[in-house]
Amino acid sequence: MTVLVSGGAGYIGSHLCWLLADQGEEFVVVDNLSTGREFAIPPQGDLIVGDVGDIELIANVIKQHNVDAVVHFAGSIVVPESVSDPLKYYKNNTANSRNLIEVCVENGVKHFIFSSTATVYGEPKKNPVTEDFPFAPFNPYGTSKVMTEMMLKDVAFAHDFDYVALRYFNVAGADPKKRTGQSTPNATHLLKIANQVALGQREYLEIFGEDYDTPDGTGVRDYIHVSDLAEAHWSALQYLRSGGEAIALNCGYGKGFSVREVIETLEQVIGRKLPVKTGPRRPGDIGSIIADNTKIKSLLGWEPKYDDLKGIVESALRWEEALAQKNSQD
Ligand code: UFG
Repeated sequence: MTVLVSGGAGYIGSHLCWLLADQGEEFVVVDNLSTGREFAIPPQGDLIVGDVGDIELIANVIKQHNVDAVVHFAGSIVVPESVSDPLKYYKNNTANSRNLIEVCVENGVKHFIFSSTATVYGEPKKNPVTEDFPFAPFNPYGTSKVMTEMMLKDVAFAHDFDYVALRYFNVAGADPKKRTGQSTPNATHLLKIANQVALGQREYLEIFGEDYDTPDGTGVRDYIHVSDLAEAHWSALQYLRSGGEAIALNCGYGKGFSVREVIETLEQVIGRKLPVKTGPRRPGDIGSIIADNTKIKSLLGWEPKYDDLKGIVESALRWEEALAQKNSQD
């Protein structure tokens, strides 16, 4: 039995690969390396450079490696880019997922774990959000993920095929053993940018909007450590292999932090102020979103190990330092 990890050279995918390697699980990565980095993949897994939408390629990988489960990370994830280039998102996230699901059905792969997002809820009327909140995506990125979740639901009804859609809240931090982390060039995430500023790689951090309906006016998000998220995938895999039915689950801690609180935490870690400017809201952004994680805890027995913003910030900073060194050696 082998797990096919699409996008396994990417940020979250590579953390799952290391966890699979630690567990002695067989896995194979399919990644087109558009944003992923080859060094992020543990040596125990093969890398096949290619596209998840390539039906022939994926069918061959499934057959050659005796794949029984697919964990599908590959896709585009930048919210403002999805607003300016929606077709990229409907191709990379929706159309490619359709192809991948089809190959699974045709080749008898019954277990599918999908990287969904809190963005499927749009701007929730109240927080925390439970999984039965209606879909209300606020940007094409969110819509592209909703469409895939809807396909999965229909396919699970029609075929011998089950899935877990994990709705990620804001993923941050890095592998405590510093084997991988957020390495995507030009990543736009708050903590990535803040760390680059802390390390002198950028001049300043811009806060996108201070006029949200939140305690300090800046955006509030539920930051989850990437290693806890990788564990959620591992638990989802056991769940599906033991006959679990199709389900969507929130992945977050149930706590919100504002942009200013994240900056203050990093300032505590580095012991100095960061250069910060305030600017207008970013297109496609919402004010506040926090997970209700009751379901994932009860159904998968998932328990976070790294639920501490300071620890998340520190691990992300340590990785950013390691990455700068790695990049300078390349
Ligand atoms: N922010 C800034 N300045 C920056 C970057 C971000 O102020 O330079 C703010 C944003 O406006 C937002 C918060 O920091 O309020 C978090 O922004 P991120 O870009 O880090 O993350 P998003 O909430 O926009 O989106 C992320 C992922 C999505 C995922 C979503 C789930 O990029 O893939 O979390 O909530 F769907």
